[in-house]
Amino acid sequence: MKGLRLIVILALLGGPLIVGMLFTYEIIKVDWVSMMENQPSYRPMEDPLPVPQDSVPYMADYVKYVGIPDNPVPADDPVSLERGKVLYNIHCAVCHGPQGKGDGVMAQYMTPADLTASALDDKGMFVFITNGTPNMPPMRENLTVRDRWDVINYIRSLQAQAGQ
Ligand code: HEC
Repeated sequence: MKGLRLIVILALLGGPLIVGMLFTYEIIKVDWVSMMENQPSYRPMEDPLPVPQDSVPYMADYVKYVGIPDNPVPADDPVSLERGKVLYNIHCAVCHGPQGKGDGVMAQYMTPADLTASALDDKGMFVFITNGTPNMPPMRENLTVRDRWDVINYIRSLQAQAGQ
């Protein structure tokens, strides 16, 4: 009698465990809707997922300008220039100077580029601002994509002023 009771107790305790194991090791396979495998997933070297529209790749300069969009903000947009000026004075003037001449207060410790003499096009500037340089911090966390285009438009206006 005692032995039988033991077997019953073991069956009661072990039964659910064994049933659980059958699911865990997929001997009984159920397509749980909540499983993470139910999503488009790709192994390395398989077709990559399509890039979301309008996304800008980070570290894009490793493949020269690939994926950097053209500047979507018109260069003479007054709102963009106004925003660009504010953002420039906060984030850039300390090194590049209020007029972009490379003569900000930090110029005594390093040689910030004279932006009015920069030969970079908008995409090139975008890469510099996004990723920084050895002496310039990356600005991707300080400036949104739109902010960066506004700053670039403002730099263009500084260049136009300097050219006069
Ligand atoms: C900490 C100082 C510092 C700040 C802040 C800074 N820069 Fe720079 N930037 C530099 C230095 C120094 C260089 C020259 C490259 C180098 O030495 O690494 C440079 C180079 C550049 C260049 C490349 C110019 C060329 O033609 O080669 C661009 C464009 C630029 N900066 C834009 C910006 C913008 C826009 C901002 C603000 C969002 C900014 N920088 C903020 C220090 C700074």
